[in-house]
Amino acid sequence: MSKEEASAVAGIFWSLSPVVVITSAAGEDINGQVAVTAVTSSIVHSVPRLLVGIWKGNYTHGFITRSGAFTIHLLRTDQLDLVRNFGFYTGRERDKFRDVGYRTGVTGSPVLLDAHSYAECRVINAMDGGDMTAFLVSVVDGKILSGGDWMTLNHFYTYAPEEWIEQYGERLSLSVANSLGIIHNIDYAPWKGK
Ligand SMILES: Cc1cc2nc3c(=O)[nH]c(=O)nc-3n(C[C@H](O)[C@H](O)[C@H](O)COP(=O)(O)O)c2cc1C
Repeated sequence: MSKEEASAVAGIFWSLSPVVVITSAAGEDINGQVAVTAVTSSIVHSVPRLLVGIWKGNYTHGFITRSGAFTIHLLRTDQLDLVRNFGFYTGRERDKFRDVGYRTGVTGSPVLLDAHSYAECRVINAMDGGDMTAFLVSVVDGKILSGGDWMTLNHFYTYAPEEWIEQYGERLSLSVANSLGIIHNIDYAPWKGK
């Protein structure tokens, strides 16, 4: 198998992933971002866990490391606007909650009022990946809100307007260039907890 084919196989995992909004609070401040790197990681129904990858350059990363908590929301297929709001801009430059209804959840993280569903999470371990951190989280609360079909990355690329895809592509290229510089600088020290 060639390296090119290996990358193509790894890419299939992207397309199948649910598109989620992750929100977190640090003190009075709140922020949120889009992610597609969330997978289940517990076979014990009564001990639900997820594994979520967050890039270090994102403003949200600092919120999660400081608070040790976030809320993860599955989006419905008709919520493309939320992907743009939370995934195309950084909270360093924009209040992403200006036009988005939310309440404060049990972990202190914001919970969006309109989504497919949400799960409130606390970090129980974290692994450095150079350019990103893989957070193992415990799901402490959650609810199906509207339900229905949830959005996948395939859906986003199929139904988002062409100019959005271009705009996101440009942002992604910058992130990839940044990641390339640090992706192999892995800190193997175990996570100490909060
Ligand atoms: C469709 C889509 C998928 C994304 N997937 C991820 C992801 O899995 N992990 C991640 O850290 N960022 C991901 N992002 C990028 C962040 O959502 C984006 O950089 C965001 O603007 C960061 O906001 P912040 O700086 O306010 O935290 C994705 C963005 C989009 C639009």
